Amino acid sequence: MRQSSLVVVANRLPLDDSVAPDGACEWRRSPGGLASALHAILDDTPATWVGWAGGAGPAPALPDIGRLRIRPMGLSEKDLTGYYEGFANATLWPLYHDAVLPPVFDRGWWETYRAVNRRFAEAAAEAVEPGGTVWVQDYHLQLVPQLIRELRPDVLIGFFLHVPFPPPELFMQLPRRLDLLRGMLGADLVGFQRPQAAHNVAQLAVKLLGAEVTGDDQITLDGRTIRTGAFPMSIDVAEMQSLAARRDVRERAAQLRQDLGRPRRVLLSMDRLDPIKGIEHRLTAYSELLRDGRVKVRDTVMVQVAVPSRERVESYRRLRDRIEGEVGRINGEYGRVGEPAIHYLIQPFDRAELAALYQTADVMVVTPLRDGMNLVAKEYVAARADASGALVLSEFAGSADELSDAFLVNPHDVDGLKETLLRAMEADPADLERRMSAMRAHLSTHDIIAWARAYLTTLDRTGRVAAGLRR
Ligand code: G6P
Repeated sequence: MRQSSLVVVANRLPLDDSVAPDGACEWRRSPGGLASALHAILDDTPATWVGWAGGAGPAPALPDIGRLRIRPMGLSEKDLTGYYEGFANATLWPLYHDAVLPPVFDRGWWETYRAVNRRFAEAAAEAVEPGGTVWVQDYHLQLVPQLIRELRPDVLIGFFLHVPFPPPELFMQLPRRLDLLRGMLGADLVGFQRPQAAHNVAQLAVKLLGAEVTGDDQITLDGRTIRTGAFPMSIDVAEMQSLAARRDVRERAAQLRQDLGRPRRVLLSMDRLDPIKGIEHRLTAYSELLRDGRVKVRDTVMVQVAVPSRERVESYRRLRDRIEGEVGRINGEYGRVGEPAIHYLIQPFDRAELAALYQTADVMVVTPLRDGMNLVAKEYVAARADASGALVLSEFAGSADELSDAFLVNPHDVDGLKETLLRAMEADPADLERRMSAMRAHLSTHDIIAWARAYLTTLDRTGRVAAGLRR
């Protein structure tokens, strides 16, 4: 088997799970940001990507994509239930997002999570060349760094957590907390979205493992030093800017406004249908504004784009039903013939259509209860070429650290959310321009390439890995 100097290990492959009739494979845009983000970096780097192609059953045969070698992993029905839907998405996901929905502790899931992590680690260990680098992504694979270290002590190991890492008192609830902490600390560099996550892990390493920690959260454990730090993830800013500059996209944006009935203001939200996204709080705030007559349907239109997600997990199915019921109620009570209060769309959008929607939106409403980063907020900023538009952003999204010129809000406080929405809707255009320009200036130097470069150069001080990145 050919080996690569860089191996990315992630739960998902960045591929469409269908292969075109000519055998060619298309890059897949996953509902989350990870696959599209890494795609922006890796399509020119000789690397291997180990991941799941979606669906149950043995790994499908997938062709390489350019110089990127694809190493597909199969997940059985049992793996899907115990590893993906179970331990990853019904235990770790809710716990890591402040338990905004209750985590499920099912003792049957752990063995499957561990076995799948071992298979991914073995595949990565086989694929990496001597002295190479393995970069492990996210909470699905938290045991993989330590497992790779056991199999391949010669390689450099990175781990990046895309979701928040919870405060110690929440993490302490996990029945398998020791294994999960040790697993992650098998890496040479553990990266997070926000600095607080690194503090949390350092505290836990002292408390649970008796590690030593320096002031900047470097952890010494078993005679080895593990570096930690915040590397806020970003988007392919150039791609979004060039989409937004296209004449057909600008025309489409104007057409969308026309189709929406030429309202004075368009509000847009775009989320995976996930309990962490705070969609219900937002609908409550908006419907109360309609009820109180502070927002009028003819004047203002709300567009909610929703991307179905993890639909075999009970809490996700129930959430979708509740949201669809609530949108129906709001439209029934406040809409008029031909003028719904909320346009609710669950169809897939291509990138150009997304860019057009961002341009149509006067107010982008991103109000998760907790979110690792939230790349939609950054995409909106990148798409606003004329520096107009207002971003309403939850303080509990990682992106709030960098986009501090947004209208920041605590989404749990429905009254505060209502006031902030009104402030954003009524803001003075000069104020909006100042805020948007500041956020655009930040993004112009903090794009996805800068993120990967910062992480990989910290991981590998020789600079060997980062030298291969595109642009
Ligand atoms: C979040 C996670 C990603 C995940 C994405 C989509 O952004 O951090 O690792 O890929 O959600 O979720 P899914 O379950 O469809 O992979």
